[in-house]
Amino acid sequence: MGKSTAVAVEELSWPREITDAEFALFQALVQKETGIQLPEVKRSLLVGRLARRVRELRLRTFGEYYRRVTVDGDTAERMNLFDRIATNETHFFREPRHFEYLERQIVPTWLAQAEARRRRVRVWSAACSTGEEPYSLAMTLLAALKGWQIDILASDLSTHALRRAESAMWPIDKAHEIPERHLKAFMLKGTGAYAAFMKAGPELRVSAQMAGGTGEANQGAVAARLGVDSLRIRRRHVGQYLDLGLDQTE
Ligand SMILES: C[S@@+](CC[C@H](N)C(=O)[O-])C[C@H]1O[C@@H](n2cnc3c(N)ncnc32)[C@H](O)[C@@H]1O
Repeated sequence: MGKSTAVAVEELSWPREITDAEFALFQALVQKETGIQLPEVKRSLLVGRLARRVRELRLRTFGEYYRRVTVDGDTAERMNLFDRIATNETHFFREPRHFEYLERQIVPTWLAQAEARRRRVRVWSAACSTGEEPYSLAMTLLAALKGWQIDILASDLSTHALRRAESAMWPIDKAHEIPERHLKAFMLKGTGAYAAFMKAGPELRVSAQMAGGTGEANQGAVAARLGVDSLRIRRRHVGQYLDLGLDQTE
C-alpha cells in the first residue's frame, strides 16, 4: 500500500529541475529551429513552460521530452514545444514610429509609382502573433491608399497565436491602442455576448489573410502563398525571424 502510494506520488510529480546538459540541448534545438535564443536567465522560463507538458505525456525528465521531439521524430510535439517557448506579446501599432515611417515615407513613394505598381501592394507580416501587427498594417494602408488592392499575408510559428489572429477578434480594452480615426473606420464593437470584444470589419478581413503556421509541416504552403520556392527558418537571431528561399527564383 505504502509502496504504491509512493509510486503514484512519484508519477504525478512534475519535473522541476533541468540538468545543464538537458538545458544545453533545448537551447541548441530552439535556436537552430526558430532563431529564439534561450540564455541562462531563461532557464526557469523553459522549465515553467514545459514542466506541465512533460508530466501530461507521463515522461519523467526533460531529457525524455527532448528525445521525444528529436530522436523519436514527434514533429507535432516539436511544434508544441516551440509554441510554448514563443512569447506572443503584441499590440496594435506596437512601434508607432514604424507606422509613421510607412505612412509618411513609404506610402508617398508608392503613390508616386502608382501606375508602375498597378495600385497593388503586398505585405508579409512574418511573425504576426495574435494579429495586431497585420491588422495595424491593413488599417494604415487601406486608409492611405484608397482604391488600391492591399494584400497582407500573415504567418507565425505559433499555431495557437494564429488561431486567435484568424478570429480577428480582440478584447475591447485593446481599442485604446488604435488611433481613433482607424478604430471608427475599420473596427466593429461586439454586442450581446461579445460586448467585451471588438472585431475587424469586413474590409480589414479581406485585406489581411493568415497564411498559417511556419512550422516544418506547413512551410511549403506558406511559401506557396508568398509565391516563393521555399521558406526556411533563420539559423541566427538577427531581429528578423525568417529567410525566404529566393535563390532558385532569382
Ligand atoms: C513578441 S511577438 C511579436 C509580434 C509582432 N511581430 C509585433 O511586433 O507585435 C513574437 C512572435 O514571433 C513568433 N516567432 C518567433 N520565432 C519565429 C519563427 N522562427 N518563425 C515565425 N514566427 C516566429 C512568435 O510565435 C511570436 O508570436
